[in-house]
Amino acid sequence: MKAVVAGASGGIGQPLSLLLKACPLVDHLSLYDVVNTPGVTADLSHISSVAKIEGFLPADDGMKKAFTGADMVVIPAGIPRKPGMTRDDLFKINAGIVKGLVEGIAEHCPEAYILVISNPVNSTVPIAAEVLTNAGKFNPKKLFGVTTLDVVRAETFVQAITGAKDPADTKIPVIGGHSGETIVPLFSQAKPEVKIPEDKLDELTKRVQFGGDEVVKAKDGAGSATLSMAYAGFRFAERVMQAAKGKSGIVEPTFVYLPGIEGGDAIAKETGCKYFSVPVELGKEGAVKANNPLGMANEYEKKLLQACYEGLKGNIEKGVEFVKNPP
Ligand code: NAI
Repeated sequence: MKAVVAGASGGIGQPLSLLLKACPLVDHLSLYDVVNTPGVTADLSHISSVAKIEGFLPADDGMKKAFTGADMVVIPAGIPRKPGMTRDDLFKINAGIVKGLVEGIAEHCPEAYILVISNPVNSTVPIAAEVLTNAGKFNPKKLFGVTTLDVVRAETFVQAITGAKDPADTKIPVIGGHSGETIVPLFSQAKPEVKIPEDKLDELTKRVQFGGDEVVKAKDGAGSATLSMAYAGFRFAERVMQAAKGKSGIVEPTFVYLPGIEGGDAIAKETGCKYFSVPVELGKEGAVKANNPLGMANEYEKKLLQACYEGLKGNIEKGVEFVKNPP
């Protein structure tokens, strides 16, 4: 398994690279960034784990060297939010960064699983799909928007109510998109079941939707979630690698192109959104089946979903347009 981190020197990229370096599923770790990869690579190379490590800058065909032969590329490249910014405000800069990196993937490692962390995920994943389509290399089963941090937050925040010993023991599907009201936690479908007092539900839901703002505010201009995101990004990457190596029964919510995945068409019709985060079954080929949790949503969640559809459609369109009619 050759794993690449594109944006490896950043706030997310460094701890994510650390976790991948320490992961026994990774044989070869390749770090790519426009700055500082020599230092990050030298530092991580002293860790006595199995993964061989290399780092590249753009000069001297660095992207080609970094990407060639990759089985998985994780993309946390791009600028993060500052207080007062929405994820959509990042579009102008990050859209171009993701486009350029995915063009490189299409050229050098089109078979790789692609895990997009760069925000706004609701738009950067459609950008990646359009770039791959233009290159004749789009495999919807292998393109994922990483929404795991929303799942991790839901698990953590609900624990304050359930008192469960290990927060991760409660499975909560968080679906829709990855920003504000497009994030829809389905607490009614938590396993094991959770009882949330009615007067706490709104606050809990909002906290999952806007949890990222707590970190942006606390960091006071120094960026957004990096450590919890590295944890979440690694958790998703690890599951993709486990599935690639033949482990069955892995289901994770992730933002995918629905029409390209078994079971996805019905969800796309119901939501009016071609891209959506739903619990997806992972296999060797990537996303093998999209599970449809919509029918089981309660009335409260159905209202949240309506707001989600409206916001998400515009975000998706913006990404598609960015590639179809470049500004
Ligand atoms: P950061 O600014 O600390 O790091 C970004 C890195 O990307 C920098 O090292 C930069 O040099 C690099 N970079 C910029 N252009 C590049 C290019 N063309 N090729 C390769 N590398 C390039 O930012 P941070 O905090 O690591 O966040 C990265 C992204 O992740 C942001 O867009 C942020 O909004 C997003 N994010 C996503 C989350 C999610 O749940 N999906 C959660 C938190 C952040």
